[in-house]
Amino acid sequence: MTFQNLKYESKNKIAYVTINRPDKLNALNMAVMEDLRSAFTTINADAEIRVVILTGAGEKAFVAGADIAELNKHGVVSAKEYTHKGQSVLDLIENLGKPTIACINGFALGGGCELAMACTMRLASENAKLGQPEVKLGLMPGYGGSQRLPRLVGKGVAMQILLAAENISAAEAHRIGLVNEVVPLANLITRAEEIAAKIIANAPLAIQYTMEAVNHGMEMTLPEGLYLEATLFGICCATEDKNEGTKAFLEKRPANFTGK
Ligand code: COA
Repeated sequence: MTFQNLKYESKNKIAYVTINRPDKLNALNMAVMEDLRSAFTTINADAEIRVVILTGAGEKAFVAGADIAELNKHGVVSAKEYTHKGQSVLDLIENLGKPTIACINGFALGGGCELAMACTMRLASENAKLGQPEVKLGLMPGYGGSQRLPRLVGKGVAMQILLAAENISAAEAHRIGLVNEVVPLANLITRAEEIAAKIIANAPLAIQYTMEAVNHGMEMTLPEGLYLEATLFGICCATEDKNEGTKAFLEKRPANFTGK
C-alpha cells in the first residue's frame, strides 16, 4: 500500500503506520485523515494483520495537532463536517477489533493526543510532550479529546489539561495513566513489538471480543456491561480457538490458534 502522507509496511503480522509530514510535525490535515481511514480500512479487512503500530515520522513529533492552517479556514458548516469526518477515523481505529499501539515519539498535541487516545494503548518516548492546547487558539477539542481524556484520566485532571492547556511531560502522562509506559526513544518501536508479539500469540477472536467488551462496556451501566461480557464469553466458547486453547493447556503444549 502506498500513501501520500503515510509510510506503511507490514511484517510478522504487524502493520506499521507512520504519519509522514515531518516538516509540519505530522499535523493532521484532511488528506492525512483520509489516508489513515484508507490504511485502517485495509488493515481491518486483512486477517493476516493482528496488531498496528502507529507513530510519527522524524524524532520531534508523533502529531503536533490538527492542521492549524486548515482550521483557520473553516466556517460553521465545514467545521462540523470536518469534525464528524475526523471523529469517524478515530472511531474506526478504536473499534478495529485489532489493537493499535500508539508510539508517541515526541509532541502529541491536540489532534495528536486525541489520535493517541483512540488507540488501544499508548507508549511514550522520554522526550514526548502531550497536551490539548486548543483553547489557546480559541478552539476546543474536536477529535474526541473532551470525551476520551476524562474517561482515561478522570474528570478533574482532564479539566486541568483541557483548560490550562499546559503540555505535560511523558513522566506526568504516565503518572496520570494517559500513557502506559515511558521508554527511551530508541526502544519505542522495539517495546511495542514485544507487546505486539504477546498479543499475536493469543486467540484473535478472544482479543477482538475482549476489546468489544471493554470499548462498549465502558459506555454502559455495570449490569449492562456484565451482560455484554457474559454474551461475548458465550460466543468465545463457540470458537474453535477456545477448544484448541483449553485442550493445549490440558495437553501441556502451546496452542495453535487459527482465528476461527
Ligand atoms: N498545524 C499546522 N502546522 C503545524 C502545526 C499544526 N498543528 N504544528 C506545527 N506546525 C508547523 C509549523 O507551522 C512549522 O511550519 P513552517 O516551518 O512551515 O513554519 C513546522 O510545523 C515546525 O513547527 P515549529 O513551530 O517551527 O516547531 P517548534 O519546535 O518551534 O514548536 C510546537 C513545536 C509543537 C511547540 C509548535 O509547532 C506548536 O505549538 N504547534 C501547534 C500545536 C497545537 O496548537 N496543536 C493543536 C492544534 S488544534
